[in-house]
Amino acid sequence: MKISKKLEKWVNEWAALCQPDSVHWCDGSETENQRLLDQMVKSGMAVKLNEAKRPNSYYFQSDPSDVARVENRTFICSEKQEDAGPTNNWMAPAEMKSVLTEMYRGCMKGRTLYVIPFSMGPLGSKIAHIGIQITDSPYVVVNMRIMTRMGSAVLDILGDHDFVPCIHSVGAPLQPGQKDAKWPCAPIEKKYISHFPETNETWSFGSGYGGNALLGKKCFALRIATNMARREGWMAEHMLITGITNPQGIKRYVAAAFPSACGKTNLAMLIPSIPGWKIETVGDDIAWMKFGEDGRLYAINPEAGFFGVAPYTSMETNPNAMLSCRSNSIFTNTALTPDGDIWWEGIGSDIPEGSLTWTNEIYNKENGKPAAHPNARFTAPAYQCPVIDKDWENPKGVPISAFLFGGRRPGTVPLVYQSFDWNHGVFLGSIVGSEVTAAAIGLKAGVRRDPFAMLPFCGYHMGDYFGHWVKIGQIAPDPAKLPKIFNVNWFRKGADGKFLWPGYGDNIRVLKWIFERVEGTAAAVETPIGFVPEKHAIDVDGLPGIAEKMDQILKVDKEEWLHECELIAEHQKIFGDRLPAEMKKQYDNLKARLEKK
Ligand code: OXD
Ligand code: MN
Repeated sequence: MKISKKLEKWVNEWAALCQPDSVHWCDGSETENQRLLDQMVKSGMAVKLNEAKRPNSYYFQSDPSDVARVENRTFICSEKQEDAGPTNNWMAPAEMKSVLTEMYRGCMKGRTLYVIPFSMGPLGSKIAHIGIQITDSPYVVVNMRIMTRMGSAVLDILGDHDFVPCIHSVGAPLQPGQKDAKWPCAPIEKKYISHFPETNETWSFGSGYGGNALLGKKCFALRIATNMARREGWMAEHMLITGITNPQGIKRYVAAAFPSACGKTNLAMLIPSIPGWKIETVGDDIAWMKFGEDGRLYAINPEAGFFGVAPYTSMETNPNAMLSCRSNSIFTNTALTPDGDIWWEGIGSDIPEGSLTWTNEIYNKENGKPAAHPNARFTAPAYQCPVIDKDWENPKGVPISAFLFGGRRPGTVPLVYQSFDWNHGVFLGSIVGSEVTAAAIGLKAGVRRDPFAMLPFCGYHMGDYFGHWVKIGQIAPDPAKLPKIFNVNWFRKGADGKFLWPGYGDNIRVLKWIFERVEGTAAAVETPIGFVPEKHAIDVDGLPGIAEKMDQILKVDKEEWLHECELIAEHQKIFGDRLPAEMKKQYDNLKARLEKK
């Protein structure tokens, strides 16, 4: 293993502060992985699943206080508070570092400090970047091995170059002789997911779960990378990447941003309901993009696995995700069946008698508690996806022809529409949102804006981030080759409260229109909000009852949109003088077009 002096010194300094019993440099090998898994089975943290049913797969239950990303404990510690913006929590970097340094002191006592060299993106790609994560969680190591390219090969490429430093501890030191918890972590008020954008650092403390702990994902690939991308003129986005091939064999790639819980993983690997069309997956969560020599925008998936929400994933809703996690996978907070397999709500079969819930109790239908936590996850290698794209590891990336934005909008927003141009498309990204019911998450009912689906992931002022998108349009080597921008809404409801559009595999019909707009062959009508499909332009062959609803599905209602404008104006106010003038202009233009209609 090639370890540079700089890296060795950095690790030694952290080891001196955290005081682990030992330090282990991860080589990423199968032997190392197996040793860690065996050790976690022995300690009671992991259960090995039934080899005949779920080969080489493991099951974990987290602490009930540690089940998801903790947005209220996530901080962007820029030097100036105004640079973090109104949508991020902020603390001065020196203050955060002094608080956390005291928390890290001795925090790994009784544990091993693992050093994880990892590459976000294919090894050696010009779009990829290397990080080094320090962690005291073997669960994190085995997950990072699936989610990133990890191990000695990364150090060989890194040489003496700079890396993105990621510090992580579960924040639960052990006294001599103390028995470890099944899922060690710190109480909520001691959890800190902190980012230092000026120095590219992430310091995470107290949580072992998902995006709080697998620092390559949301922390590095989004919050830190948005800052790097802004400085260096590229894009780090919360987007899936998928290839669409038409019956003639022409292939185009699209990247799409949707807020969490809008079916991103489903769209990334959908099975088309119309003959001759094919979908292939490059990524399901994050896209890093740079202009190529031909002037087109090229995207890589910086990850190597899927960290997917398990509940309601089934052979019905997403067979490709189900097949991706059929072996060599990790399951966290699902239920465990008596024959050593996993189960979750919406998996498509009844829960076997005697299954254990994610809180390790025998499942009891009567008490109304779900067997799997709603945020239960599978960690599965991307190469196991039956429709993984042949270029998913191409270091050059894949050329993007279209961007899609969308949220859950029961009213107002048509199934699909196209922006007039790049800046209008940036405006569409800036107003993405989902409608929430007050009861569901204790928020004010109404549209919860999630610009570009980046609300929890943008590592700097969101107004400046809109400005960066505008700038990408300006620095594009050939503006004609920029991706076309669309907004989609699978979730519009009729007067009966039912979804108007069938969704899932039928979403290919919308992708087909988008594909054909990119090719310049699909018909559209110009409306005040953008180009909407001409009534017969969406292929609804073989979809009973939909042709009659098409007017309603595609409707752009002046009154509804004028009301939407009021909401957009309120949303834009949040960004104060950092709202780019171009976004205000887009708003004014939209309003003027509606008033003229
Ligand atoms: C995710 C999210 O887990 O966006 O990917 O919340
Ligand atoms: Mn995500």
